[in-house]
Amino acid sequence: MSYAEGILNGKSAIVTGGATGIGSYIVRKLGTLGAKVGIVSRKEENLIEAARKFKQDDGLDVVWRTGDVRDPDGIKNSFDELAGDLGGIDILVCNAAGNFICPTEELSWNGWRTVIEIDLNGTFNCCQAALLHLKAATDGGRIISISTTQADYGWPGAAHAGAAKSGIQNLMKTLSVEWGKFGIRANWVSPGPIEGTEGVDRLIIQQGLADQVKERIPLGTFGEGDDIANAVVYLSSATGRYVSGTGLAVDGGSQWDRGR
Ligand code: COA
Repeated sequence: MSYAEGILNGKSAIVTGGATGIGSYIVRKLGTLGAKVGIVSRKEENLIEAARKFKQDDGLDVVWRTGDVRDPDGIKNSFDELAGDLGGIDILVCNAAGNFICPTEELSWNGWRTVIEIDLNGTFNCCQAALLHLKAATDGGRIISISTTQADYGWPGAAHAGAAKSGIQNLMKTLSVEWGKFGIRANWVSPGPIEGTEGVDRLIIQQGLADQVKERIPLGTFGEGDDIANAVVYLSSATGRYVSGTGLAVDGGSQWDRGR
């Protein structure tokens, strides 16, 4: 199931963390619907391999730069170079994230700081780095941050990521107000458990929780990467032109159970 071919023709997009996981589904979807796409992540080997696969499997010429979202100057350089390659930035998808499960009483200051820096500060850095380009976007720049349904509730074992994702959601609300005058829309997508991702493998399947988690999802299955990618397309394209400062949960109807 997908959007009309060419719905993103003429658009340029950057996806942070686009080489792997949910980010790679977003890249593939944006690219096959017509956008030119650039990806940024820390590991060059992941970027090279991802670009090769996007070309081989989907015929997409995805451009890339290495960059750590925690480094504001480095990210600004990477984005400026990618904007040169792509002819601008119309769409920014803040997807890069880090997380690990650790009870708060055992979480070191550095562990806390590291996840806040990647998730929350990294999103701030990327939004600032893309601002000049988003302002110049013909039909209004789009920022879509990837959050999580857990951000609205407590998240035992992930205080750092929960606080960061909550912060990201508020940042999107604030940017929607401050940058609305530039035509920029800022929103977030909150995935539930998405199969085939490193997050679900590590945080759910390896903990032996797969059946237990599925039983609590009203639609009865994990989501797919394309479910998240389609939500991003809605918010990136003309279909989402009047949507700003809000979130879209893509979680099989699990709102009743969030936070347990
Ligand atoms: N439990 C407890 N503390 C942990 C931890 C874990 N599983 N993993 C990392 N930390 C702590 C480290 O001990 C360190 O703190 P310390 O100096 O007090 O010991 C701090 O976090 C930084 O860890 P480090 O590995 O140096 O950071 P990094 O910048 O190289 O990587 C992550 C940070 C979050 C990316 C890394 O933990 C990771 O690779 N996570 C898995 C991949 C991932 O997050 N994918 C995202 C999809 S969910």
